Amino acid sequence: MTGATTAPAHSDITAQRGEPLVVLDGVNKHFGDLHVLKDIDLSVNRGEVVVVLGPSGSGKSTLCRTINRLETIESGTITIDGKALPEEGAALAKLRADVGMVFQSFNLFAHKTILDNVTLGPIKVRKQSKADAEAKAMELLERVGVAHQAKKFPAQLSGGQQQRVAIARSLAMEPKVMLFDEPTSALDPEMINEVLDVMAQLAADGMTMICVTHEMGFARRAADRVIFMADGAILEQAAPEQFFSNPTTDRARDFLGKILTH
Ligand SMILES: Nc1ncnc2c1ncn2[C@@H]1O[C@H](COP(=O)(O)OP(=O)(O)O)[C@@H](O)[C@H]1O
Ligand SMILES: [Mg+2]
Repeated sequence: MTGATTAPAHSDITAQRGEPLVVLDGVNKHFGDLHVLKDIDLSVNRGEVVVVLGPSGSGKSTLCRTINRLETIESGTITIDGKALPEEGAALAKLRADVGMVFQSFNLFAHKTILDNVTLGPIKVRKQSKADAEAKAMELLERVGVAHQAKKFPAQLSGGQQQRVAIARSLAMEPKVMLFDEPTSALDPEMINEVLDVMAQLAADGMTMICVTHEMGFARRAADRVIFMADGAILEQAAPEQFFSNPTTDRARDFLGKILTH
């Protein structure tokens, strides 16, 4: 599939659904001798929700990190909305703003309020006025269910609440795509669902999402496609029902056997 799509003539998001938004073509990456991404071809359409599964060390985090250029690649191309990833400078900052990322650890600024955490990027990078940024932030905090905590500091919130703030903070930048790298794996079990519910709502609202998660319920409920990685390669991709009921490789069967029975 080619990433060289021309810009659509209109901006209606539903009309654009189904067009490639994030395209990786023949991407390779090593860490020293370790070939951590092997000829990755992946095209994610606008509005599509992709769940990435695979054993620890298979390259899932590295894949996410190459998409907003936290990691460089050695060969292949990555395009977002038809544009190659910029190398550096202002264009790279703009790209980072277009690609929201939520990690396992929440990375909120400890000495800033929840509200300030969410408004910082829009004011600094998107050049929004403080009033506009705060109005938008409150809407987003409402949407993720923590608006009443806006004046508090991160440490005063539970892990689940902090992760929902981290999602709101990413959304405040109006990203084109959201990457989630095991966003619930550091949370206590009772907080996992409140974060997954926010993610499922985001998916239902049409956000393009690439989610590394082993939460099978979420994958079944929200994913359009499941991708299974092992040893730096994509071994399988299929609709969730098909993948979970009928994985075609031994590696995937073995992996599912382990995570479904523990
Ligand atoms: N910065 C790094 N330097 C060297 N090796 C790394 C680095 N980051 C990840 N790796 C290695 O690359 C492989 C893939 O890692 P990662 O992408 O984190 O996998 P996953 O997220 O699927 O667990 C692992 O073997 C890991 O140890
Ligand atoms: Mg990882």
